[in-house]
Amino acid sequence: MEKEIKILAIESSCDETAASVVVNGRTVLSSVIASQVEEHRKYGGVVPEIASRRHCENICWVVEAAMEKAGLTFDGLDAIAVTYAPGLIGALLVGVNYAKGLALAAGKPLIPVHHLRGHIAANYIAHLELAPPFLCMVASGGHSHIVEVLDYTCFRVIGRTRDDAAGEAFDKAARAMGYPYPGGIAIDRAAQAGNPQTYPLPHPRVEGSPYDFSFSGLKTAVLNTLNHAAQKGESVVKEDLCASFQQTVCDLIAGKLMLAAEEFGYQKIAFAGGVSANSGLRKRLTAECRRRGYEFFVPPLSLCGDNAAMIGSQAYYEYLAGNFAGADLNAVASKSIE
Ligand code: KG4
Ligand code: ZN
Repeated sequence: MEKEIKILAIESSCDETAASVVVNGRTVLSSVIASQVEEHRKYGGVVPEIASRRHCENICWVVEAAMEKAGLTFDGLDAIAVTYAPGLIGALLVGVNYAKGLALAAGKPLIPVHHLRGHIAANYIAHLELAPPFLCMVASGGHSHIVEVLDYTCFRVIGRTRDDAAGEAFDKAARAMGYPYPGGIAIDRAAQAGNPQTYPLPHPRVEGSPYDFSFSGLKTAVLNTLNHAAQKGESVVKEDLCASFQQTVCDLIAGKLMLAAEEFGYQKIAFAGGVSANSGLRKRLTAECRRRGYEFFVPPLSLCGDNAAMIGSQAYYEYLAGNFAGADLNAVASKSIE
């Protein structure tokens, strides 16, 4: 029988303090998330200094709760994993230092996990049959990548955003329309009641790079639509503008992802990151994949946003690959998934 590898994972890269125990990368024994979103909403975005302070306050009880729910003591663990990059440096440092201390005290190996690798691994928890190679769109608040998942710990980025990330574009467009932070979910909800044909928005291209994205022009187009209407004394139907915006993001992401799948010969397509919670994108990618006979994988909503279960899943494969860290592990704000 296969030995059970139990890993405690810690995530603190942005505004969620999270801990989880995962067995063999696929079975979640516990997953605890302390979200700070209510506090950051007052400021219209994440305030890094506040995020770090809250992580410090929350990390002990979050880890204890995850261990208790899993019914384990630290002795029962095989390793301790932590998100070390990319993210807010002060936020990452809280998780990294806590995990280093715990690994040393408990005498367990320490596994550094890249946050975006974790987002992709959320799919392993939800889809037990999913194994590399496959093509994955990773769209979060800070990144928008088309990634070849060549193996569990081997990645190649074939497309990326040249300016804003998809989630950032959602949040900025939402803010311009008066929705609270984080705006992605507000646009998603409003779009369901709107007509996507109402406001034609541009589909920005990156010259010579068919798989790269540019979302900042789209956000500007939303601002221009609002400003022009205000100047003329006309009102904008927000639901229609949200639907038009979301449909344009769907066109851009689905278009480039399907092009990449065809060009690089992938039949298995996955979607991950906070933006993979978007109902319009989930529907559109499901339909586009079905039409081409591709298999499509996306995590359940509970695993799309930041959580530690996805970090625990990826950590298992880093463990198998022998990717351990010592007490000199540092947090890194910006680092390629490769
Ligand atoms: O992965 P994530 O939770 O955190 C980062 O690693 O950045 O992604 C957060 C992003 C935010 O920009 C948020 O607005 C967006 O994901 N998001 C959505 C939806 N839910 C979250 N965007 C569009 N539609 C949604 N339903
Ligand atoms: Zn994330």
